[in-house]
Amino acid sequence: MKIRKAIIPIAGKGTRFLPATKEIAKEIIPIINVPMIHYVVKEAVDAGIEQIIFVTSSGKFSVEDYFDRNQELEAFLERNNKIKELELIRKIGSMVSVTSVRQKEQLGLGHAVLMAKSMIGDEPFAVLLGDDIVINKNPAIKQLMDVSLSNNGATVIGVMEVPKSDTAKYGIVKGDIVDEKTLRMTGMVEKPKPEDAPTNLATPGRYILTPEIFEILEKIPRGAGNEYQLTDAINVLCQQKDVFAYKFTGERYDTGNVHGYLDATVDFALKDPELRDVFLATLKSRLQKHGIQL
Ligand code: G1P
Repeated sequence: MKIRKAIIPIAGKGTRFLPATKEIAKEIIPIINVPMIHYVVKEAVDAGIEQIIFVTSSGKFSVEDYFDRNQELEAFLERNNKIKELELIRKIGSMVSVTSVRQKEQLGLGHAVLMAKSMIGDEPFAVLLGDDIVINKNPAIKQLMDVSLSNNGATVIGVMEVPKSDTAKYGIVKGDIVDEKTLRMTGMVEKPKPEDAPTNLATPGRYILTPEIFEILEKIPRGAGNEYQLTDAINVLCQQKDVFAYKFTGERYDTGNVHGYLDATVDFALKDPELRDVFLATLKSRLQKHGIQL
């Protein structure tokens, strides 16, 4: 069955990006001149997703507006003969159909996903977390869709290897090896301490799920951080039926923190043919100015 819908939870307050997030939705903060959320939505659209469901909280209207048409701006650009910019703006406004649902209390990722239950209906769906940008020609979420399709529409969790010292930042999976990139999962645990972590295979927020997860989410108790964890629901599901973890291919940036954000900014500047030389020249002159030799 084709996966048409993606849930993107964006209700978080973005405290790691204060003070900017006092007044701006974290997702709108740009990497150079493109908002972070653009990359996440583009990954979904490139994978064939037709509808994005944002799970929002107050102050996130700019994310919905960003993917809407802006007639006033379009008219202004047209009047001023700024055709390239006009095309860019129109393309974003018609990129994908967007709906949203409120998460009235921040009770965890499992709770956020549950908020979108009525909008999903009876079909498999994708979940992408907005803090993680994954760049690859074949989108990471598409890679997971393909694994799901070739396994009777099973649930598939995207994973990557992380240093053991970092396990407490992620949902960590364990399972039996199917092939070099795939595991049949036997468990999943949210943010274990390194000494308790079963593996170093972490999910950076890419999931293919089926509606049966909602029934489990409705029943699970609060878990790590006193929140309703998606990880805990997946852990229950994989005791009942086949759930796969897949080591996707792609460069992943944790843009939810300033360090990851810097990595992405530098990489994107270096990869942009129009920016690369300017960026290198700027960097060189700035290093000279500050007397820094690398
Ligand atoms: C969430 C999930 C966690 C996942 C992580 C990826 O945690 O609960 O399982 O590994 O996103 O970024 P958060 O970072 O929102 O605390």
